[in-house]
Amino acid sequence: MAMKVALLGCGVVGAEVVRLVDRQSAELAARVGAPLEIGGIAVRRLGRDRGTGVDPALFTTDATSLVTRPDIDVVVEVIGGIEPARSLILDAIKAGKSVVTANKALLAEDGATLLAAARAAGVDIYYEASVAGAIPLLRPLRDSLAGDRVNRVLGIVNGTTNFILDRMDTQGAGFAESLEEAQALGYAEADPTADVEGFDAAAKAAILARLAFHTQNVTAADVHREGITEVTAGDIASAKAMGCVVKLLAICQRAADGGSVGVRVHPVMLPREHPLASVTEAYNAVFVEAESAGRLMFYGPGAGGAPTASAVLGDLVAVARNRLAGTSVGEGGHDTGLPVHPMGQT
Ligand code: HSE
Repeated sequence: MAMKVALLGCGVVGAEVVRLVDRQSAELAARVGAPLEIGGIAVRRLGRDRGTGVDPALFTTDATSLVTRPDIDVVVEVIGGIEPARSLILDAIKAGKSVVTANKALLAEDGATLLAAARAAGVDIYYEASVAGAIPLLRPLRDSLAGDRVNRVLGIVNGTTNFILDRMDTQGAGFAESLEEAQALGYAEADPTADVEGFDAAAKAAILARLAFHTQNVTAADVHREGITEVTAGDIASAKAMGCVVKLLAICQRAADGGSVGVRVHPVMLPREHPLASVTEAYNAVFVEAESAGRLMFYGPGAGGAPTASAVLGDLVAVARNRLAGTSVGEGGHDTGLPVHPMGQT
């Protein structure tokens, strides 16, 4: 029997998810153990051609009914923002659906509520696409490194600002023209303030810190944040003269005494020999320092429709498999309760 998927949102990422489910249907069915079938797509307005090629009858504006429909197994949320996404996800969980979401803002603000609800209902909530696009990062942090002790995570987690800083560094381009280019390439948020003021990176930093340090206590509000709007051509030139490059970094760090964590986002002058200094364009990279594993670097496309859809699809296959096997368990109870240090310092 097919695993039926309800999609919430059909923008750049959602439309790509639909196309991939269709184009790769045979491979996906083999990997899941059952065909994946799009059972409905909730959108704000009907009638727009989204280039998905699916039956127009699948589209609905009634997301609330869609997420609780008895035949739906998995809800994929790619509308973003806090509401109505939070209510729809909670409704879906309460109705016993597994959830895949790319919603970094919601996870950073209220992830603990969503994860607790999923645990209580015995369903999965996966969110690999919420941080660093296509890069397999969250599940490795949560699962592969679960036996290690992570001390620090340094990340370039916003493609738009990395693109802007890279253009300013390598081509002497201005801030505004670089931002326009990033927007045209589909990297920027609908309101690019979230990118350039560091809100997007701060949300991702909160999610990274929660997974790296196994604590539910970090929210976006705990992240000390500074964006790149004050970075001038003069700053870039001074960094260059000192053999450095300016990068917007998310820094998640365990205090020396191990008793708290600090999370912050701000521009950093990075020596050119540091592995993160070579991350150009809209690429993302996350550098993890763990006690036994040592230094690890995760690198790849961090924004854009296809890379983000790849992460969503990976989660979709995983939760569908768990559902078929009857092993959906939410995220597992691993809250160490580590407190967050004010101002992001440790
Ligand atoms: N605006 C985001 C970025 C998109 O530039 O990285 C991916 O989250």
